[in-house]
Amino acid sequence: MRERIDINRQGGYWDAVSRHYQSFTSISCEDFHYGPQIPGESTLRLLPAFRAGMTALELGCGAAQNSIWLAKRGVACTAMDISAAQIEHAEKLCASHGADIRLAQAGFEDFERHLKARERFDLVHSSHALEFVEDPAAVVAAMAARVKRGGTLMISTVHPLFNGEWTTFEIETARGRRPKTVDGLFLPSYFEPPDDIRDENGLHVVSRAYPVSSWFRWLKAAGLQVAALEEPAAATGAPYTSRDWADHGGQLDAIPSTLIFTARRA
Ligand SMILES: C[S@@+](CC[C@H](N)C(=O)[O-])C[C@H]1O[C@@H](n2cnc3c(N)ncnc32)[C@H](O)[C@@H]1O
Repeated sequence: MRERIDINRQGGYWDAVSRHYQSFTSISCEDFHYGPQIPGESTLRLLPAFRAGMTALELGCGAAQNSIWLAKRGVACTAMDISAAQIEHAEKLCASHGADIRLAQAGFEDFERHLKARERFDLVHSSHALEFVEDPAAVVAAMAARVKRGGTLMISTVHPLFNGEWTTFEIETARGRRPKTVDGLFLPSYFEPPDDIRDENGLHVVSRAYPVSSWFRWLKAAGLQVAALEEPAAATGAPYTSRDWADHGGQLDAIPSTLIFTARRA
């Protein structure tokens, strides 16, 4: 039985680590990022074509680097995050880039209180934050409800394989020969991958992954048509990187860390 994810503890964790996260992780405003060590929008080309008057809503925005990138292309951006400390970083970064972005401290669970009743967006997006919520199906439905007709929802999140354990195995070779040692992935259940739990200095945060088919089903149930599904391999020159992620080295050449969906409202 997996633990219930407590939104207050999750927010508290990000408040506590925000300063370290923003200085230790290199997150570029020169490309739109989808996840650690993987190519950005300049390579993947998943976002809709930009046009004048376009609007976007980002949830779990961190320091809002993706919204800043969109704002530089003329998109009117709204960006929210549960962590007050992350939003403070976003305010400073927006100011230093001259980006006029509507920012608010709010969770996936209550972002609607900052929007007008009928407010809809051309693009609703979230990069690597939905793994921190208790009820992703409900959040996908709430995000989808804010996508305009003809608009796009983009979600990137932790890939279910990435929550497996990287370990060393002995595998049989030909009879009479010594077993061979290989490094690989141990995943006790693909259908319920283990939580990635960080529990240190009184802080507790849970990152939870789901099978690819669950996300697909939630997007369809929310009335959207899935347009793209990507599981990118690691690449050099990624717009989101850190020493910790670089240490995963060859693992990220063997399995995807990030799952990306785009889906449209017809
Ligand atoms: C790995 S960071 C990603 C941030 C940003 N998207 C980026 O790529 O830098 C995860 C973010 O999710 C936010 N977060 C966690 N739980 C959340 C929730 N329930 N509602 C909104 N944001 C949340 C954290 O505060 C943190 O800023």
